[in-house]
Amino acid sequence: MSVFPVILSQEKFIHRDSLKFPLEERALQFGDGIYEVIRIYNGTYYLFDEHIDRLFRSTEAIKIKLSHSKEEIKNLLLELLERNNMAENGKVYMQISRGSAPRDHVFPTNVEPNIYAYVQAVPRNLVTLKNGVGVITHRDIRWENCYIKSLNLLPNVMAKQEAKEQGCYEAILHKDGVVTECSSSNVYLVKDGKIYTHPTTRNILHGCVRMAIERFVTDLNIPLIEEPFMLDDIANADELFLSSSTSEITPIITVDGSPVKDGMPGEITRKLQAAYEKDANIIENLIANA
Ligand code: PDD
Repeated sequence: MSVFPVILSQEKFIHRDSLKFPLEERALQFGDGIYEVIRIYNGTYYLFDEHIDRLFRSTEAIKIKLSHSKEEIKNLLLELLERNNMAENGKVYMQISRGSAPRDHVFPTNVEPNIYAYVQAVPRNLVTLKNGVGVITHRDIRWENCYIKSLNLLPNVMAKQEAKEQGCYEAILHKDGVVTECSSSNVYLVKDGKIYTHPTTRNILHGCVRMAIERFVTDLNIPLIEEPFMLDDIANADELFLSSSTSEITPIITVDGSPVKDGMPGEITRKLQAAYEKDANIIENLIANA
């Protein structure tokens, strides 16, 4: 996944090799910043407004004062695609930190936030989308403000690595048996035709793909119940799936080595995958036509 040559740095478009930050940068030293990952299909941002709104919710939550409006950030990100002649499937990573200043826990004064963004080509993972993935379960040891898309991802990184070491794709996180979300995605359980997922409290990130799913279920007439489910409920689940900008809507077929139901992607998951492809104007429509 190589980075396209033109990157956005503050308000300038520069070559990726010329991005320079000093040692004393708040994101590097404190993780004092936030980020967004936005999916791109055929050179167009998907769920663009949802991501930009969340970006601003995150900066406000940690008291970073941006001098840009939402429209200005959107225009910069659009120009980034144009300058790279980006016309394929991919993603943009945008990071905003409190800025560069001598190391001190207290916020610096009169310091502008550091903003950068870069684009990468990312093909859709058709194998996992079609076949589903295995996950592990893992304690959720994160802080109390997981609704902020903060750069502090160490517990998420540790959980995902544990999943990888066990030959799995993701880690379902739980607080005392209550399932919150996954290390880098939201998670849902289907039982008797209803979808259950954790309410959008401070304990989880309100995913932009989840926001799209909230629309799809209305059209499909599938009840979405925003109530947490327990680890113990998984053994009797009909289906399990996860969602994120990079994983789209991916079926979960095993949990800690045990199959979910018959170990095959479920019917409701497939319907949502088809709705996703339609909503994102994905040309291949591989899931929908499977
Ligand atoms: N992760 N929950 C967590 C903890 C996440 O990190 C993510 C996204 C999501 C899903 O959010 P969305 O649907 O807006 O992508 C839920 C991104 C992709 C990442 O960190 O790479």
